Amino acid sequence: MDNFIVDNTKSLKGLILRVKKAQEIYATFTQDQVDSIFKAAALAANKARIPLAKMAVEETGMGIVEDKVIKNHFASEYIYNKHKDALTCGIISEDKANGIKIVADPVGVIAGIVPTTNPTSTAIFKSLITLKTRNGIIFSPHPRSKKSTVEAAKIVLAAAVKAGAPKDIIGWIDIPSLELTNLLITDQNVATILATGGPAMVKAAYSSGKPALGVGAGNTPAIIDETADIQMAASYILMSKTFDNGMICASEQSIIIIKDVYKKVVDELVLRGAYILNKNEKIKVAKTIVINGKLNSQIVGQSAYKIAQLSGIRVPEDVKILAGEVSDISLNEAFAYEKLSPVIAIYKAENFEDAVEKAYKLVELAGAGHTSVLYTDARKQDRINIFAEKLHTGRVLINTPSSQGAIGDLYNFKLEPSLTLGCGSWGGNAVSENIGVRHLLNYKTVAQRRENMLWFRVPPKIYFKRGATDLALRELVGKKRAFIVTDRFLFDSGVIYSITKVLEDIKVGYQIFFDVKPEPTLSTIDEALLIINVYQPDVIIAFGGGSPIDAAKIMWLMYEYPDTNFQDIAMRFMDIRKRICDISELGEKAQMVAIPTTSGTGSEVTPFAVIREDSTHIKYPIADYSLTPNMAIIDPNFVDSMPKNLCAASGIDALTHAIEAYVSVLATNFTNSPALEAMKLIFRYLPRSYEYGINDPVAREKMHYASTLAGMAFANAFLGVCHSIAHKLGTAFSIPHGIANALIINQVIRYNATDRPKKQAIFPQYKFPNVKAKYGQIADELNLGGKNDDEKLELLINAITKLKKDINLPLSIKEYGIEEKSFYNNLDKLVEQAFDDQCTGANPVYPLMEDLRSILIKAYNGQVR
Ligand SMILES: [Fe+2]
Repeated sequence: MDNFIVDNTKSLKGLILRVKKAQEIYATFTQDQVDSIFKAAALAANKARIPLAKMAVEETGMGIVEDKVIKNHFASEYIYNKHKDALTCGIISEDKANGIKIVADPVGVIAGIVPTTNPTSTAIFKSLITLKTRNGIIFSPHPRSKKSTVEAAKIVLAAAVKAGAPKDIIGWIDIPSLELTNLLITDQNVATILATGGPAMVKAAYSSGKPALGVGAGNTPAIIDETADIQMAASYILMSKTFDNGMICASEQSIIIIKDVYKKVVDELVLRGAYILNKNEKIKVAKTIVINGKLNSQIVGQSAYKIAQLSGIRVPEDVKILAGEVSDISLNEAFAYEKLSPVIAIYKAENFEDAVEKAYKLVELAGAGHTSVLYTDARKQDRINIFAEKLHTGRVLINTPSSQGAIGDLYNFKLEPSLTLGCGSWGGNAVSENIGVRHLLNYKTVAQRRENMLWFRVPPKIYFKRGATDLALRELVGKKRAFIVTDRFLFDSGVIYSITKVLEDIKVGYQIFFDVKPEPTLSTIDEALLIINVYQPDVIIAFGGGSPIDAAKIMWLMYEYPDTNFQDIAMRFMDIRKRICDISELGEKAQMVAIPTTSGTGSEVTPFAVIREDSTHIKYPIADYSLTPNMAIIDPNFVDSMPKNLCAASGIDALTHAIEAYVSVLATNFTNSPALEAMKLIFRYLPRSYEYGINDPVAREKMHYASTLAGMAFANAFLGVCHSIAHKLGTAFSIPHGIANALIINQVIRYNATDRPKKQAIFPQYKFPNVKAKYGQIADELNLGGKNDDEKLELLINAITKLKKDINLPLSIKEYGIEEKSFYNNLDKLVEQAFDDQCTGANPVYPLMEDLRSILIKAYNGQVR
């Protein structure tokens, strides 16, 4: 690089292209290669720490050689130590189980702006983190410190090249100017800007249109409260403020002392070498600090004695800092500025709150985003929290000298070592933390397809067989009080005796609530809760069809969580596991046993319940696995005398559960089996169960099992648009739920059976639209024949139609008796409501509203094609 002096636009453009080319080669280096280059460069910089420090002081006339040695040492040793093991090339992390890899890529060519305050240490720091990340860098030094900055860059480059780095990986502007810096930070081949410098430079950097990482100005306030260790605080502030003659941008610019300890602190500061300026001296120094509203660059990095001389005042030669006691926090007060020299302001605060307010104002005045300090009793976490929440600074240091503390790794090993301190949006920076290698990389997240875990959740105990109730309920031995939820019909018929008798045998007390009506309402729940809350049952037994079981689930929920908000938990969800509101586990107060007396809803094994609000008639469909009963008893003895119409409606409901669960987007191997088995049983036994009732106990038994099997399938695979529409159609025209399903199912099957759906549902378990084939599988399972899926589909639809005829169900909404005018008047509302039903999301084809309208119109006319 020595051959090229960069001192004009042309030579700078040439340099940018050379560094870019070198960086492109360097970007292919391996981690091992990069790590040896990083080490060689850090070693070389460290070796040169003293000559570079001398050079910087000599060239700039600022600061203290011995302190600059420490900075150079820190910039090489601490930065190397921090990042030596960091992975920065290629795949830097991999989580095989979850299919995520992170690949690190360099950002490219960096523009490195280097200030005059830390010319060599900043150049070392930026070179090293550039090399570690396979980037290239071009330095724009401050004109006052160009020689030492360029020398530091040369030393690092030479070592890096010797260790194998491309020869142009680091470059610099030899004769800097505003024009060249502007060209550098706006050139299309420069990827990002690492800016350290005054506010004007930082502003130029982030106005360049490129990502800029860097610092804003600091104006660090240090509060000393009445609980602080005063000797320690005073000494640390002096140590920090005098380091390199106060040129660290993080160094304290003002001390805010709570009045109770004001005199003690000031005395301690004086004892340790501070000089408190009297009124006249203060005026003179103020005039020297700020000239024409700007910090006088003549005082930057000078000793207190020299600044006193410049101000025309006499102080002892060994004075460490000049302190001005002031009260104004505004640009009218010179002491309130960032002074970059051993001059400090002292403010008196009434109390802690006042001190925090003053610190806040000083930061906002001239140091937004940078650093703030609090000296306090470290046990006072509440004060630390108040301070941290109020101050807008990226670093909030506690009992720490800020020059050394803010650059990290010295007074807190977890604060990252850095010579470029982000100041966040407050300071116009992209980041608010200490800059390190991670900020100079682009991260590619390689996300392989991984789907979320699925589940199969049913009651832990499902007992079945004729007479199972007697034995199953005996497992409740040891319980104290059972609350039985049923309906009046079952209560009056005396069949409830088969439950109460067992409870008496095993000495479990009980109360019976038999006021559940079809479509249970919240007032019914409230009525029951009045008893439940007094009786404090430890088991709730639901006995009946879907309504008593649903009601009992809601009673159980309200008994355990009285503050449940139905509107919240009834909110539609996309993924039941990710919903905004859910229900915690139930079972703290009571277990739940469900004993169905109809063969259709499957509620005994599902996590679903529907409850209606009395006045508004709004239905809240609640779905949460917490509502799954602990025990389900499938005892066919209770369904032998089920009336014919109930047998037909509940039987066809169970069939649609099985069909919709089988083709649902959430259908899995675990739900397919019970769904298919349920369908087989229903086709075989529903006509017999309907026709012969109590005289065909086998058919009744098998239908009872089929209903629960279908329930297990749809408890986990959910349903589809047949149920979406049936829910709304049933409510609008008071059609029993099962019959409403029967009126829609064929049209829904026809709609779903396509290999080219208009819209596919999101996150399906199938790889491609395969619903037609799945209907074909159902036809095969039912031995319906057919050569291909199209034929099988027709045969399946015909079989369902025949089944409906066998059990005397109407074949269209019209045939059910709904007037045409009334139907069409309700159609728009029905379509929108059905679309918004929770079941819609699991349908294998994601429907448009116009599709649902067409299904409804066809179903009205009984048109299957
Ligand atoms: Fe249903």
